[in-house]
Amino acid sequence: MKITMIGSGYVGLVSGVCFAEFGHDVICMDKDEAKIAALKNGQIPIFEPGLAELVAANVKAGRLSFTTDITSAVAQSEVVFIGVGTPSRRGDGHADLSYVYAAARDIAAAVEGFTVVVTKSTVPVGTGDEVERIIREANPDADVAVVSNPEFLREGAAIDDFMRPDRVVIGIEDERARQVMSEVYRPLSLNAAPLMFTKRRTSELIKYAANAFLAMKITFINEIADLSEAVGANVQEVARGIGLDNRIGTKFLNAGPGYGGSCFPKDTLALVKTAQDFESPVRLIETTVAINDDRKRAMARKVIKALGGDARGKTVAVLGLTFKPETDDMRDSPAITIVQALQDAGAIVRGFDPEGMDNARKIMPDITYCEDAYDAATGADVAVIVTEWNEFRALNLGRLKTLLTQPLLVDLRNIYRKDEVSRHGFTYYCIGRPNEEVRA
Ligand code: UDX
Repeated sequence: MKITMIGSGYVGLVSGVCFAEFGHDVICMDKDEAKIAALKNGQIPIFEPGLAELVAANVKAGRLSFTTDITSAVAQSEVVFIGVGTPSRRGDGHADLSYVYAAARDIAAAVEGFTVVVTKSTVPVGTGDEVERIIREANPDADVAVVSNPEFLREGAAIDDFMRPDRVVIGIEDERARQVMSEVYRPLSLNAAPLMFTKRRTSELIKYAANAFLAMKITFINEIADLSEAVGANVQEVARGIGLDNRIGTKFLNAGPGYGGSCFPKDTLALVKTAQDFESPVRLIETTVAINDDRKRAMARKVIKALGGDARGKTVAVLGLTFKPETDDMRDSPAITIVQALQDAGAIVRGFDPEGMDNARKIMPDITYCEDAYDAATGADVAVIVTEWNEFRALNLGRLKTLLTQPLLVDLRNIYRKDEVSRHGFTYYCIGRPNEEVRA
């Protein structure tokens, strides 16, 4: 099939290259000329394991190309995906749909023959209706079926998630789209991933409900972690103990500094706003958003407490800045709030992240960026693990101890065991494991 992907950001690029890998002819389009020029040169604008190799292989095979020319790309495509950004609108938290609607107008002007137009960007319920209205108003002769096909991929595991999804959700109003979308995803049927066809609004809501549920699950275990600390229980064992019940499941029950990233914070907020607009509030999600916001500052207080209650003039080594490992993405990373709160309390921050420092510099210009974890720890009064990068899982604790002014480790991701850290003479603070003895 001939496919155009409008928007070559995270979702657009990963989806586009994976469709090419399926065997389709894919044109990835973006208005950003520098980005397209870089992609044509084989430079990938984001860090995602396996992506560069997959782009190179599919370009070489002649199935994947890049362009800034939306008109010619759309005119020759049977399926046009909209994969542009939907950031939170400043001020009110609603999703900003201006890029989606601009894409719809561009499609209307360029479309030729029957074309399936698919929103892959995360968009509020009813956006598909508006995309369809815009196209029909701009070009009454356009023969289009507008479809919702949300993406559930996780950064850092995006290609695998795309190739081996738990399910593919497709919301349609025009039956002709069913056949076309089945064809687009046909290679997946070999992996037995169910294609779930629904109405368009249902599909749009599934995406938000899925992300909100996962955000709620994380927030639930984070609160149970605080309670574990208060009552002297071990949150990892609680998580395992409840997660082995199939109805609950063991995944997404890792307590930590609060969720971040490009999806959960933005999508939970957008769902709250949509629900308020429809006078059907989602109070569990409202509370989830509030708890998660508070949690990041609470993490800074935890560090200050470990420092004896006063951070003025103290140096903090922050290990990990991205919102999770295996990405260079700093969007809504808990580290941003934690670092800010530490600086507000008078601390000096030295930071290191394996992939995220270029992006971090743009957001947090006033911390000292270091070569590695040991460099960050040099002369610091405490080391704080904020992101669970693999390279922080096996730190040379003996060496770390000699570099710090005192042996103090705050582990906001629970990647160490108290007994092993204590053996090296460290005072150790973690999340929800006050007197832990972790068993596998
Ligand atoms: C998420 C969804 O998983 C994905 O389905 C959706 O399409 C986009 O949003 P992503 O943002 O890439 O993906 O990351 P994810 O792995 O879900 O983690 C999100 C945040 O939750 C991170 O900050 C992570 O550290 C945190 N998290 C996750 C926890 O604190 N505990 C957990 O158990 C899981």
